[in-house]
Amino acid sequence: MSAIRVFAPASIGNLAAGFDTLGAALRPVEGPPLGDRVEVRASDRATLTWDGPFAAQLPEDPARNLALRACDAFARAWGHDLPPLAMHLHKGLPVGSGLGSSSATVVATLRALDLFFERPLDDERLLRAAGDAEAHASGAVHLDNVAPALLGGLRFMDALGRAVALPFPGDLRFVIAMPELNLLTRDARAVLPGAVPLALALDHARNLASLTHALHAGDRDLLKATLRDLIAEPHRARLVPGFRETQAAALEAGAWGCSLSGAGPALFAVAEADRAAAIGDAMRGAWSARGVVSRAFVCALDTEGAREVRP
Ligand code: HSE
Repeated sequence: MSAIRVFAPASIGNLAAGFDTLGAALRPVEGPPLGDRVEVRASDRATLTWDGPFAAQLPEDPARNLALRACDAFARAWGHDLPPLAMHLHKGLPVGSGLGSSSATVVATLRALDLFFERPLDDERLLRAAGDAEAHASGAVHLDNVAPALLGGLRFMDALGRAVALPFPGDLRFVIAMPELNLLTRDARAVLPGAVPLALALDHARNLASLTHALHAGDRDLLKATLRDLIAEPHRARLVPGFRETQAAALEAGAWGCSLSGAGPALFAVAEADRAAAIGDAMRGAWSARGVVSRAFVCALDTEGAREVRP
């Protein structure tokens, strides 16, 4: 069997309104793709190596690497032990950034293994295996990052557990502002309350249902009004220095909405394409005023998800 190499894109978990249920895969409109790559090849002994701009953030012990957790999850889902494999991870996403770094590693590994073994699992079983492996990183099963990283697009985990693609206006962009800060999802989940008041649960349900309706109906005013996070952001804001100022700068520069990407610390804004670059500059400026260095990217929706790339 020849080597298989798979790329999996970065993603925005929650997309503000859909805590643990909604996520979008990202494709920068300029420059190289944003995500992780995993290569799998046959070998007489099992190895894992890694490189890439964020390789130094990975645990030194390969046994703690999420690529190997994904191998275990794949073997469990398939019901077979895996033969020895030489695996290589190119870490293109920063760990603890809010851009779905752990999901990208897990999903790239699972898709690569599935192709290598000639597709024993369908997408639904790959999705479950990804949730299983990802739970090791965050301490909880949530599929809002793994679903778009695996399948592409804007994905909503529906009441039957399916990752449903939602329409998203092609003229809108996601502006990502990524500070040089780290926040582990596990820590960002630890500050969330165990229960929410009934009135808040109702507001959240109305907001998420309204956003979903807005996307299907093409109701842009309703979309603008619903790109907000009533559940997690109020508790997590204090974990990200400069969060409120950066969010305000994006909105003042014309963003339709702005919130934490996943658990943060990266922020995303939704904007019309011709405003996107200025919004990225405004967000970087606001963080810079707080002494935080950041980078901004303008992205479109990645509609492909995890895909084989040329070795
Ligand atoms: N839905 C997750 C959270 C995304 O907000 O905790 C981060 O993995």
